[in-house]
Amino acid sequence: MSSGYVAVQWNRHKRVYDIIVALALSLFIATFFVIGRLMYRGEHAVSDEILLMRALGACAFCSLTVILCIGPLARLSTRFLPLLYNRRHLGVATFLTALLHAVVAIGFYHGFGVLNPLRSLLETNTAFDSLASFPFQLFGLAALLILFVMASTSHDFWLRNLGARGWKRLHMLVYPAYLLVVLHVALGALQTQSSSVLLTVVLAAVSLVGLLHVVAGMRELRTDARTRDEPPLRGEGWVDVCGVDDVMEGRGRVVCIGTRERIAIFRHNQSISATTNVCRHQGGPLGEGRILDGCITCPWHGWTYRPQDGTAPPPFTEKIATYRVRVVGKRVQVIPTPLPPGTAVEPARIDGSPHG
Ligand code: HEM
Ligand code: FES
Repeated sequence: MSSGYVAVQWNRHKRVYDIIVALALSLFIATFFVIGRLMYRGEHAVSDEILLMRALGACAFCSLTVILCIGPLARLSTRFLPLLYNRRHLGVATFLTALLHAVVAIGFYHGFGVLNPLRSLLETNTAFDSLASFPFQLFGLAALLILFVMASTSHDFWLRNLGARGWKRLHMLVYPAYLLVVLHVALGALQTQSSSVLLTVVLAAVSLVGLLHVVAGMRELRTDARTRDEPPLRGEGWVDVCGVDDVMEGRGRVVCIGTRERIAIFRHNQSISATTNVCRHQGGPLGEGRILDGCITCPWHGWTYRPQDGTAPPPFTEKIATYRVRVVGKRVQVIPTPLPPGTAVEPARIDGSPHG
């Protein structure tokens, strides 16, 4: 549903979300700073610069953790979809926070010598064979570079130029980036902190991210298995996928046939249509969306497609694959071979008559 390079338009909703993100990050940093002042006293006292650096680093780590939790949470409950809709803005805010953290760290630890601060960061500590004094900052630097690439390609301009699949692959780099940050923080904590609080927080965050991904993945596998188990009434290539009453009016249902791509079945105006489940934008699950104003509406960022031909309404031009579909008695059947994106397919009337 994009026209030119401005598919995900700026709107009031996004502005409100951005203000909330900015306030939440600022509040986190301020609270960390105040609590840190109270905690680090006497012989453990630290300078304002170190405290600010820690507050910024902790804030970036927490918001990266939240970003990684949003995907599986949105799969588990639609209540989290608004977060997914705005996730890219949170990603950019996370990069900026991490960048500030790095600037303060490099300035404070490497800015007062004769060497250029970046050279000093790369060359001063080369104890790669010692865990206790390993240059943990380099893990942070590598993570920051990945976050930079992701933040600078977050605009739909890049999505369009790299293609949905290439863009998605690039943005999967968030997982190696997270691993690098975890190594950075864990090794850094071993060297700079005497308490184990930081390590405990990191372990809890990693466990939460892992657990949510496993639970969401298992739920998806169960859904696939359920739809696969339904009795296949085969004949002339038609495959029985679900009952008519399994799909609510104005809603979709995701079905999975063998190991093929998932298919989204929609019920609208007493007729049934079938399209790919994969949104052209960022691969969102179309079958979890609804029909709004006669169009399939992706639950992630609201791109729309007409159910009868998988084409975005004008002025947009995106097309998705459609499937031949029919209703036999109270059962929905499809031919599980995707038709070229944008192919018109007559929706199947639920009473059996062709769609008027
Ligand atoms: C060039 C890149 C980076 C450099 C040079 C750097 C440097 C540092 C240094 C020196 C510390 C120890 C501070 C101290 O306690 O004295 C630290 C801690 C930390 N860094 Fe980084 N960092 C970088 C990137 C990142 C990134 C990308 C993230 C997260 C997204 C991050 C998150 C953290 C966290 C959470 C801590 C621990 C804060 C705490 O003690 O509460 N850093 N970093
Ligand atoms: S609208 Fe973004 S994935 Fe569908």
